Amino acid sequence: MRKTLVAGNWKMNGRVVQNDELVTTVLAGLAEQALTEQVDVMVFPPSVYIAQVEAATRESALSVGAQNLCEFADGAYTGELSAEMLVDVGCSAVLIGHSERRAMFGDDEQRVAEKVKAALVAGLTPVLCLGESLEQRDAEQTLSVVTEQFKSAVAGLKLPEITRLVLAYEPVWAIGTGRTATPEQAQEVHAHLRVLLAEYGQSVADTVRVLYGGSVNADNAAALFAQQDIDGGLIGGASLKAKDFLAICQAAAVGRDG
Ligand code: PGA
Repeated sequence: MRKTLVAGNWKMNGRVVQNDELVTTVLAGLAEQALTEQVDVMVFPPSVYIAQVEAATRESALSVGAQNLCEFADGAYTGELSAEMLVDVGCSAVLIGHSERRAMFGDDEQRVAEKVKAALVAGLTPVLCLGESLEQRDAEQTLSVVTEQFKSAVAGLKLPEITRLVLAYEPVWAIGTGRTATPEQAQEVHAHLRVLLAEYGQSVADTVRVLYGGSVNADNAAALFAQQDIDGGLIGGASLKAKDFLAICQAAAVGRDG
């Protein structure tokens, strides 16, 4: 069975002092409840704080990822970060295709696919984010939109590479809005993604974790994680509050048995 995963996307938030407090409290809470035996936990700080968080978590089961990477290898790309650099500073994963990057920073389907490939080549786990806008949901295009996003991102990959992905279904209308998909709405899309994964073999479908993201909080996490095909969450706002993030990790540890 897939181990549940909770990933905290800090977005463009944090300062050295607050990061230390947050990580220290989260580490203490995870240890106290031995949560990382049942749930994998990752945090994605802004890149300037990756080294800080990596140093603070090195002796723990909490792993660190980046919120973005450049699709190119090292070279003349001012302001960018390569996959190898992220590995060098201790990242094990990277978010790719987050709707904020798709909408505001030009991460189109081709660039998303190139970033996924670059991450895999360097040994990073790509957390591939997918999701429809409100207009697309209202037009009943949700499943076709996520199908297109998934297929274009994995088009050039070999089977073992697809097995190394994590998917995160994040309906755009639920991100940062306080409006969560209902467990049933999320499960429908997750089940669809599981079918798409199964086209590459049942073991791919059985292995790849599909997270839900979009206004997950301490109160709604348990109902989401109880769904058959929801393997954890990608958490934005609530990952900045240690108490809430720990409650979400706790809900993920209980998972489908809850
Ligand atoms: P949110 O963000 O939990 O604040 O809605 C989720 C995300 O964007 O990954």
